[in-house]
Amino acid sequence: MSGAGASATVLRARFQPWLLRVTAATAIAVAVLAMAPGARAADERPPYLDPARPVEVRVEDLLARLTLDEKLAFVHGDSKFTTPAISRLGLPRRWMSDGPHGVREDVKANNWDPAGRTDDFATFMPVVLALAATWNPEAAHAYGEVIGEEARQRGKDIMLGPGVNLLRTPLNGRNSEYFGEDPWLAARLAVEYIRGVQAHGVASCVKHFAANNQETQRGRIDVEMDERTLRELYLPAFEAAVKEAGVWAVMGAYNKFRGEYCCHNEYLLNHVLKGEWGFRGLVMSDWGGTHDTGQAVRNGLDLEMGTWKPYNQYFLADPFRDGLQKGDFSQAALDDKVRRNLRVMIATGVLDGRPAGSINTKAHQAAARRVAEEAIVLLKNAGGALPLDAARLTSIAIIGENAVRLHAYGGDSARIKAFYEVSPLDGILRRVGDHVNVTYSPGYRNNAAPGLLDQAVAAARAADVAIVVGGLIHERPFDCEGTDRRELGLPWGQDELIRRVAAANPRTVVVLCSGSPVTMGGWLDQVPAVVEAWYDGMEAGNAIAAVLFGDANPSGKLPCTFPRRIEDTPAFAGGARTYPGENGVVHYDEGLLVGYRWYDTKAIDPLFSFGHGLSYTTFRYANLKLVPGTSASGPVVTVQFDLTNTGTRAGAEVAQVYVHQAKPGLPRPLRELKGFQKVVLEPGATQTVSIALGRRAFAFYDPGKPGWLAEPDTFEISVGGSSRDLRLQGAFDLPQTTLAPE
Ligand code: BGC
Repeated sequence: MSGAGASATVLRARFQPWLLRVTAATAIAVAVLAMAPGARAADERPPYLDPARPVEVRVEDLLARLTLDEKLAFVHGDSKFTTPAISRLGLPRRWMSDGPHGVREDVKANNWDPAGRTDDFATFMPVVLALAATWNPEAAHAYGEVIGEEARQRGKDIMLGPGVNLLRTPLNGRNSEYFGEDPWLAARLAVEYIRGVQAHGVASCVKHFAANNQETQRGRIDVEMDERTLRELYLPAFEAAVKEAGVWAVMGAYNKFRGEYCCHNEYLLNHVLKGEWGFRGLVMSDWGGTHDTGQAVRNGLDLEMGTWKPYNQYFLADPFRDGLQKGDFSQAALDDKVRRNLRVMIATGVLDGRPAGSINTKAHQAAARRVAEEAIVLLKNAGGALPLDAARLTSIAIIGENAVRLHAYGGDSARIKAFYEVSPLDGILRRVGDHVNVTYSPGYRNNAAPGLLDQAVAAARAADVAIVVGGLIHERPFDCEGTDRRELGLPWGQDELIRRVAAANPRTVVVLCSGSPVTMGGWLDQVPAVVEAWYDGMEAGNAIAAVLFGDANPSGKLPCTFPRRIEDTPAFAGGARTYPGENGVVHYDEGLLVGYRWYDTKAIDPLFSFGHGLSYTTFRYANLKLVPGTSASGPVVTVQFDLTNTGTRAGAEVAQVYVHQAKPGLPRPLRELKGFQKVVLEPGATQTVSIALGRRAFAFYDPGKPGWLAEPDTFEISVGGSSRDLRLQGAFDLPQTTLAPE
């Protein structure tokens, strides 16, 4: 997808995940080898510069050559996004960049103003929530490859993303940067995203570890939740990033967790991440997320970035040196941090003449387009209102600010200086050509300009079809870092606008651009078709036009529930205590019941359920078989069924597998997503789909053990097109043999 081909294969072989393959024993053995003089007499290069040597040999060799000052230079920034070069040893500056849906424009060294360069444009991929709506791990891999290739071209070594924080409240300003409300979906896509990036010799930095689920008071809020909720909901995507994708870097979150800042949180960083999961890469702070030298030294922080102080006064700069000199801190603590930084530096190939990447290639544009199309969710399509037949239309009224608004340069740290961005209006104009009369009326503006509504209604009345392109914006206080949204509804009088337009023209289609769920106040029943198009990257307009006019058959599914009202949402239920917090503490009292786990268990009807998304064709599910497996570590049961395209067009369905335990020892949500597969089918075609469920699919985290416990019990397995559209049901008895806690 991303200009991969032969060069990517070579790169992939070079940049294998390595963090988990190095055991303590091999580390010692290679360290000894590295010290042996003349180990490679014929090679004049010092071991750390020899790509043929194992990473750990190179790390130990380099570590032994560094002075105290040079070591300290590795553990804190010397500009907004760099650590210094060490020219004596031929070590280049290390460059980091945001993330997550493209390589951010460069900023000045010491402030956030744009650097004013002309070579820092990038491909603007659809936001991560849109990627999640594809439910397609292969698309996530292609997406990651675009980021990796462009980062390398831009000289970046660590890309600050993806974010894998869960959508706990639809109001979170950064929901668009994350993968939605389900840990399994987030984990599957994040793993492939990270593999795609790192295949190109660029470190992925998964963020924000952990429980960073709101922007309100993010810099000081203390998150309290029970252990089981942490393990089952908020950690699995990070765990998969570490254990499966071999992610090279992790960023701590701004907030506190159980009273201690996440960037130096003993439990999260030392105990869970580095201890239990065996993470050997580096932990960096979020920008300004470090608060204390002693904790930073002892509690697992390896690289301090963005502190609001002169660089030498960073917590891990002079104060660290002072503490070392006074004997408060050990040399071993510093060495461990430096080792982790060196590992990542060496793994990215910067010492080995890492080849240049590529930027804005046709393949990158194609990847952006493909993800954009696959991300669009057809929420409603009564009477086959869509797709539109351009040949039978003479006029279209396009209404709404988002028809012309560009979103790349919003989102704060997620901001991209895009090579281009096709607006929905542009995309539709390109698609329909000259023979359809297209008018545009704003209808509303985010600065509440009066008089626009009547004009839009008149335009709608005069046209064959009205297309309202509304939603939110990629700016504060909507879908943007730094603040949460204040309400769930559409702003700037859009509800009234849509009601009036629909009354004037029954063929009204609503396209929403947003990075989080919105409500549809009083107009959903009045319009035949609604499409969720997110902030869909630089190919957004083309992708939207392709879906509206049927060149692409929509296959996106919601990665988050669209609730009917804010009062229905899990974080709302406990008042300020559960969101946004009281006296500096936010309590996740809803526990495991986040997203559809909440709506389904509590029998609350959502506007659109998790996993929902229509197609221009239809699918039949049949012949469910649950085939037990016997392997200790392999699948426990394979869920098999036939999926048939019963319509007249090719299309793709995301088949979803949900698990329910009959009599759990501890209460569990009504159902939990444990598998899915996106299947492309020609009209009339049938495919037998097999989805393997491992032991973890049946297990819950038992804090009493502690560990993942799969009880011998009956498990109901449901298969369907959304969490509320379950077409097949079966039961499976988990045998005794799979009981040992992990
Ligand atoms: C954000 C991070 C980002 C960093 C650097 C912080 O404000 O929370 O996600 O990577 O800035 O821009």
